[in-house]
This record gives sequence, structure tokens and C-alpha cells, in this order.
Amino acid sequence: MANAAVVGAQWGDEGKGKIVDWLSERADVVVRFQGGHNAGHTLVIDGVTYKCSALPSGIVRPGKLAIIGNGVVLDPWALIGEIEEMKALGVAITPENLLIAENTPLILPVHRNLDQARERALGNARIGTTGRGIGPAYEDKAGRRAIRAGDLSEPDVLADKVAVLLLHHNALLRGFGMPELDRDEVIAELEGIAPKILPFVGVAWRTLDEARRAGRRILYEGAQGALLDIDHGTYPFVTSSNTVAGQAATGSGQGPGAIEYVLGIAKAYTTRVGAGPFPTELEDQIGITLGERGREFGTVTGRRRRCGWFDAVLVRQSVKVNGIDGIALTKMDVLDGLPELKVCTGYRLDGETLDHFPASSVKQARVEPVYEVMEGWSESTQGARSWADLPATAVKYVRRIEELIEAPVALLSTSPERKDTILVHDPFAD
Ligand code: GDP
Ligand code: IMO
Ligand code: MG
Repeated sequence: MANAAVVGAQWGDEGKGKIVDWLSERADVVVRFQGGHNAGHTLVIDGVTYKCSALPSGIVRPGKLAIIGNGVVLDPWALIGEIEEMKALGVAITPENLLIAENTPLILPVHRNLDQARERALGNARIGTTGRGIGPAYEDKAGRRAIRAGDLSEPDVLADKVAVLLLHHNALLRGFGMPELDRDEVIAELEGIAPKILPFVGVAWRTLDEARRAGRRILYEGAQGALLDIDHGTYPFVTSSNTVAGQAATGSGQGPGAIEYVLGIAKAYTTRVGAGPFPTELEDQIGITLGERGREFGTVTGRRRRCGWFDAVLVRQSVKVNGIDGIALTKMDVLDGLPELKVCTGYRLDGETLDHFPASSVKQARVEPVYEVMEGWSESTQGARSWADLPATAVKYVRRIEELIEAPVALLSTSPERKDTILVHDPFAD
């Protein structure tokens, strides 16, 4: 197996960054294929914490090529800021190890402002976005008026494209009672950032194709999670991209056969940040305990993450819509010491039992979880690096989850540290 995609199987923040970092030791290329700097992927390596938002997590390892694929929306100013932060931590970032696809749409300040203005206007109906302009940037991509990374090298074309973009946005800004944008100012901003971005811009699909044919290992790094997917998630409380593994091909310029193994990442419980339905949410002391022990605060916005029991129905649905071959189960250690654990095995709605999460947002908000109660463990699993170190009840919990989600556990994570990872089945094995 040469190529694997890593995707979130819940509502994001499952620990994708840690797992991508762990796997990237044996990969040559790490490519992001969707989302933007709404992502916050945390890596902890020998006590030092690195946060990747727009940058692929493979960037921290010397000698690996990190690619920002065409399926991403990229804020060039945020990227340069992130590169500076990484440099301060001793991570070298040059055109040798970072490539941006020339057809990647850009997030501009107008997108961020619109995202925030719309959220304010929605009031209680707001989605709880990260406020980073992700939705508006994808809208402009679909609306065929986006400025793309490669456009920065063509000043004449850029001026015309900005004019088309502002035709749309100034109409919107007028509607929101906000000041309109001046075309020359927007062009000047783009011309200001262009020299910093252009050295990284190139033909990503071709580089990936060459890497694949040369037998290099490619890791496709997903952001967010299946329940935030624009099609398969809890619409409208979702992000604006396809987060599922199928997007790894389109979002990087490869065919579907390029992805040989899909690794889904799931927490041993569930979290969600932002608004929207969450059937197993715990609004009691156990929820607070999970949040404190799991340090469940957003990497990007610092918001408190909502916490709840493991929902096997949702993860099974993720397994299906992603084509997940194996799961990396993270944050097992956060459950240490809880006397009993609950796992959601179905939903009840109007006297009927459901074995899946319905697409209707009204039904999603009304379903009642059906729980199976399992025995907890009093021993510590924190930092465990082999199966033999796990208490029997913890193994039983993992085995039951595998049965319910209809996928095997390939990796287990027992702390934020890179090395505190148990390999059960190697995604790169033949
Ligand atoms: P991502 O967005 O999927 O990459 O996940 P985040 O980095 O946003 O959130 C996961 C958080 O859990 C980070 O703070 C990680 O350092 C931390 N983490 C990852 N795996 C484990 C684990 O097995 N145990 C514990 N306690 N923390 C973990
Ligand atoms: P990673 O990659 C968790 C959520 C936001 C909001 C919704 C839409 O770190 O797992 P957006 O700004 O994308 O328009 O917000 O999606 N969201 C995430 N939640 N982890 C993420 O990324 C997220 N990226 C977006 O909180 O509910
Ligand atoms: Mg995150």
C-alpha cells in the first residue's frame, strides 16, 4: 500500500494531525485536499506543540514534500503568518518542501468579513463558523469568480478578475450596509502578497502523478470530519467542502484509484464545536469532565467543544460514506477512571428505532440516542504503547466499537505525544 487518506469520522478535531504526523514518518508527500485554515491540527513532538491550520501536518518532518491541493481554499496572508510561526519553532519552509496548486482558490479579507457579518445577521440561527471566510470563498469558487493562486502571476488578468469579483461582493456589501470595496485597493493587496506566495505555486497534480509513478508514498490529509461534510454532514450546520475521502482525489488532481487505504480518525467519545445537532451530547458533569480531561478547546477559535458519548451510529455512517478501511481511535486515555461508559447503538424517533442518522435537520435535532452501557476501567491507559498495556475492559470497549462501526481499529492513540500510539494494523502494509 503506497497511498492512504486520513479523514475525520466525526465532527472534526478527532486527532487527525497527530495521526498524520505519526504516519508521515514513512510517507514522502503529505497533501491537503479540502478545507482551509478553519482546520487546526495539533502535533506534539517531544513536548513541543505545533499547530497546522493551512499547512499540511507533514511540514514538520524534514525531507517531506507538503502540498496544498486545489480543493483547499487558501488565505495567503494567514499562510505567510503560519509559515513565520513554524519558522520560529525551527521548521524550515521553502519551495523545496511546500507546493501550492496553481488552481487553489484564495480566501480574501472580503470573505472573512462576509462570513462574520452573515453570522452576526443570523443571530441565534448562526452556524458557529470559524469566521475565517471559508464558506464565502467556496461560494466564489462555485460561482466561477474566485481569484486563484496562479492568478497572482498575471497582473493584467488579475485586475479584470477582481472587477468581476467586486461586482458581486459590492452588491452584497451594500445589502449588509457595509462599506464597498475599492478595486485598486484589492489589487494592491494582492500584488503585495504575490511575491511571498508565488515561489510556492506550481502544478500539483503533475508532481503528485510523478511521485505516484516513482513509487513514493502519498498521504492525503483531510480536515474537519464526515459530519461536517457539505453533502453527508448535519446540513446546514456543516463546513462548505466535501470532507470525505472521495474528495482526496478531486481535491488534489488524482484519480480515485490513487487512494488505496482510507484511515478514519475517531475519538473514543464525541465532540463538536459550533452549533448543530449532537444526539449524545452530555450537558452534565461527565460532559464537563470529558472536556477538561480531553482539553476540548478549539485549536482555531479557542471555543469550548461540546462533549458526549461515542456515537457508533454516526461513525458507522462515516465508515460507509468514506469507504473507511480502518479506524484510528484517539483519546482513549480521556476515558480512564470513568466507572461506566455509554455507546450509542441506535436512535429512537416517534416510537421507531433508526439505525442511521436521518438527513432531515428537524429529525436530527429530535432523535433520542439508544445506549449500550459498558464497564469502564480504573487503570491508566495514558501513554500506553502496546495492546498488552491496556486493561481488559479497555480492550473490550475497543472490540465492541469495531463490531458496531463495522470497521477494524488500525491505530490507537493514548496521549497527544507522537510516540504514544499503538499500531494494530499498518495502513501502509501490503
Ligand atoms: P484534528 O483537528 O483532528 O487534528 O485534532 P485537534 O488537534 O484539533 O484536536 C485534537 C486534540 O487532542 C489535540 O489537542 C491533540 O494534541 C489531542 N490528542 C490527540 N490524540 C490524543 C490522545 O490520544 N489523547 C489525548 N489526551 N489527547 C490527544
Ligand atoms: P479540524 O480540521 C472542528 C466547524 C465550525 C462550524 C462549521 C462551519 O481541526 O478538525 P467553517 O468555518 O468551516 O465555515 O465552520 O464547521 N469546523 C470545525 N470543527 N474541527 C474543524 O477542523 C473545523 N472546521 C470547521 O466550528 O461549526
Ligand atoms: Mg482541529
